[in-house]
Amino acid sequence: MQQAIIELLADGACYTGTQLSSTLKMTCSSIEQHMNQLIALGVPIIKWPQARYQLKQPIILLNASAIEATLHSKSWSSPHELHLFNSIDSTNQYLKELPPTNAIPICCAEVQTQGRGRFGRTWHSPFGENIYCSSRWQVSCDVAKLSGLSLVTSLAVIATLQQFNQNQQIQIKWPNDILWQGKKLCGSLIELMIESPGTMHVIIGIGLNVNSDTQNNPLLEKPWCSLFEITKKTHDRNELIATLITHLGDYLHRFLNADLSVFLDEWANYDYLYGKEITLTQANNTITGTAGGISEMGQLILKDNTERTHLLSSGDTTLQQKSKTQTD
Ligand code: BTN
Repeated sequence: MQQAIIELLADGACYTGTQLSSTLKMTCSSIEQHMNQLIALGVPIIKWPQARYQLKQPIILLNASAIEATLHSKSWSSPHELHLFNSIDSTNQYLKELPPTNAIPICCAEVQTQGRGRFGRTWHSPFGENIYCSSRWQVSCDVAKLSGLSLVTSLAVIATLQQFNQNQQIQIKWPNDILWQGKKLCGSLIELMIESPGTMHVIIGIGLNVNSDTQNNPLLEKPWCSLFEITKKTHDRNELIATLITHLGDYLHRFLNADLSVFLDEWANYDYLYGKEITLTQANNTITGTAGGISEMGQLILKDNTERTHLLSSGDTTLQQKSKTQTD
């Protein structure tokens, strides 16, 4: 029933409780109850006097037929199944618990109540604004090879974004932060499920800020931005999700059939850290130096102040602050 209410409100018009109750064949008090539950979930519903309800702004909701239509228009024929939710704890978590299937499961939600980022961080996941999308792919290869997967995933996201923005300079901060003007546009969380030696499932979870008004709603933790801020227009998330999935499939296929070396030139075009003074933080270690691109294994190349070169497989990077305007 909550789905039906959201679908009615999605056009952004103002509805009276009476209108909703006659369309949905529910009492006004149960409409009111559902509204309160939806508001508690973070759905941006305005309650006007005299029991009138309206969404803060119109929303194009996630829609399976629309996603399928775009996949079809791109001739993407890999067997897949869509799992769309209004609300979920985390789309990655859902796919972790989903029993094995022969098709590629793709899970998206309007809101995540426990969206997860790297290093145990929280992923800000407001209702109906952005993309929270996880997909699970069966891969057969040496587990060591998958260290490059987060980089390849970032390149697939960039390829997707190129189709939706007017050549704005979007960059990748190793290994998988997508930035615009130093602000975070997208992040990915990759989780491995090993079935047997050489056979695994990888869950690729993407959080892409699409329609959030990031300029007027800054986040305390870290500067963020959205495709809306970049292009000054709202975007249909269904189209973006389908485009993202086709690019992920394509990049994953090419990566598994070759290795990271075929992507090095592409990476260099988007490398945010290259030539910058950075500090890399690991659990028990901190190294400061100049970033020098990535190795064929996807490690970050870092030359420290003693000219020693480090090849680093993991860690969190921050820029050495040189001026007040510089952010990471
Ligand atoms: C990061 O940059 O820290 C990674 C963020 C990944 C967020 C996405 S949103 C969809 C999927 N579900 C989650 O709980 N996390 C990922």
